[in-house]
Amino acid sequence: MTAPKPLIAGNWKMNGLAAALSEAKAVAAGAAASAARVAICPPSLLVHRMSEALAGTPVLVGGQDCHTDESGAFTGDVSAEMLADAGAKLVILGHSERRSGYRETDALVAGKVKAALRAGLEPIVCVGETLEERKAGQALAIVTRQVRGSLPTELAGKAFAVAYEPVWAIGTGLTPTTPEIEEMHRAIRATLVEMFGEAGRAVPILYGGSVKPSNAAEILHADEVGGALVGGASLKAQDFLGIVNAL
Ligand code: G3P
Repeated sequence: MTAPKPLIAGNWKMNGLAAALSEAKAVAAGAAASAARVAICPPSLLVHRMSEALAGTPVLVGGQDCHTDESGAFTGDVSAEMLADAGAKLVILGHSERRSGYRETDALVAGKVKAALRAGLEPIVCVGETLEERKAGQALAIVTRQVRGSLPTELAGKAFAVAYEPVWAIGTGLTPTTPEIEEMHRAIRATLVEMFGEAGRAVPILYGGSVKPSNAAEILHADEVGGALVGGASLKAQDFLGIVNAL
């Protein structure tokens, strides 16, 4: 089975006004020769404009969350169909900021994954342990449980990615050691193979948490790392390109 191209996705979180589209265009200009698939996931209000701005470039646009339902009385929510209609090709689901801030459970995340598939979006499903859980020696158990609970069987045969983001590494400048990343990615791989058979070997497992140009090459070349999910360092084209072109 040939390994898929690594995926490097920028998660802009709640950052970016229309003026920031120039950063996305600069990413597209500088990423043309990248060995990776490159994506930017801006706030939902920018998905449409960014999709238009990046049309004809290899850079994909994604959402950061979606509702489980296609439409209805859900004030303030955005459906997977709306993201797809606006030009998104992917969607981040189950980010720890949503799991902690909005009490998203594995079951809810799995429901959102089904919604993404219904709309033809490629889900990037996030998992990761807290510092307390790591200190208690529970990191592998917690993360593999999240993988089992957040990935519905409907993903069989579909394109999707898993992003391992240790909560304590997000926005802190701290990262696990390379052996720690590899240990976790191998455990996630084994779980994916358990769940999806041989097809589980082709699922990209991204690492996320304080990825920056200076540590990107080492992380991206670690065993079982199939790309990166980048927060802060994806906001400026120069930094993001330093990661995208580190492969
Ligand atoms: O989804 C990406 C993210 O949570 C990592 O954020 O700022 O540590 O790269 P950051």
